[in-house]
Amino acid sequence: MHCMPSSTGSAGPSAPGPEHAPAGKAALRRRLAGARAAMPDTARHEAGRLIRDHVLQMPEVAAAGTVAAYYSVGTEPDTRGLVFALWKRGSYVVLPLLLGDGDLDWASYEGPGSLAPGPHGLLQPAEPARGAQTVARADVVLVPALAVDVHGNRLGRGGGSYDRALARVGSQVPVIALLYDRELLPSVPVMPHDQPVRAVARPGYGITTLPAAESAAQPRGYC
Ligand SMILES: Nc1ncnc2c1ncn2[C@@H]1O[C@H](COP(=O)(O)OP(=O)(O)OP(=O)(O)O)[C@@H](O)[C@H]1O
Ligand SMILES: [Mg+2]
Repeated sequence: MHCMPSSTGSAGPSAPGPEHAPAGKAALRRRLAGARAAMPDTARHEAGRLIRDHVLQMPEVAAAGTVAAYYSVGTEPDTRGLVFALWKRGSYVVLPLLLGDGDLDWASYEGPGSLAPGPHGLLQPAEPARGAQTVARADVVLVPALAVDVHGNRLGRGGGSYDRALARVGSQVPVIALLYDRELLPSVPVMPHDQPVRAVARPGYGITTLPAAESAAQPRGYC
């Protein structure tokens, strides 16, 4: 559990400078979203393909009975191939259903034809909702992020949806954020409600395990 930002550590290629104040989240989100928007579609798809292969090769993922994943939208690294591959090889895959209050429910992915348009341009399962606690039964949780820092702190798009969902996930469960190469940073602004991730998957670097993994004995939740 990491409740304070830090300016120490190295983070791979061309990370922006440290941002400590929670108010810095908005500015950092704008910068990261701008960089994603500037990427050609071909680079996004290639990144998704590489991330797919890295994640599929993880032993924890290969052994997972249930994977909580997400269906990418917009400029996110493409997860559609990964979701399909997980389902095809026999994992039980659940995807989020965005609720009106920003919280997440979950429903089964049963192939590409099992999705329907949801809010904010999302494609969501048309299967019945299984309850917000469904994520607590996942063996692996794959989460979106705009950036993660070397301490495992995650910056999302600002709804707080994954902070709520991850608070229900046991501290031993691998929570993996899917990023582009330049999105593992020395620090991101962090607040007490922010839930850390244990690893990131990046196209050019594979899987990077973060210190949050070493504090697995500590419960998740507020600091
Ligand atoms: N457990 C919670 N219950 C209610 N509101 C919450 C909870 N966790 C976070 N929030 C709220 O969500 C808002 C956005 O949080 P934050 O900026 O951390 O989003 P994010 O982590 O970037 O988004 P996301 O998790 O959706 O990708 C904050 O105003 C925060 O108070
Ligand atoms: Mg957060």
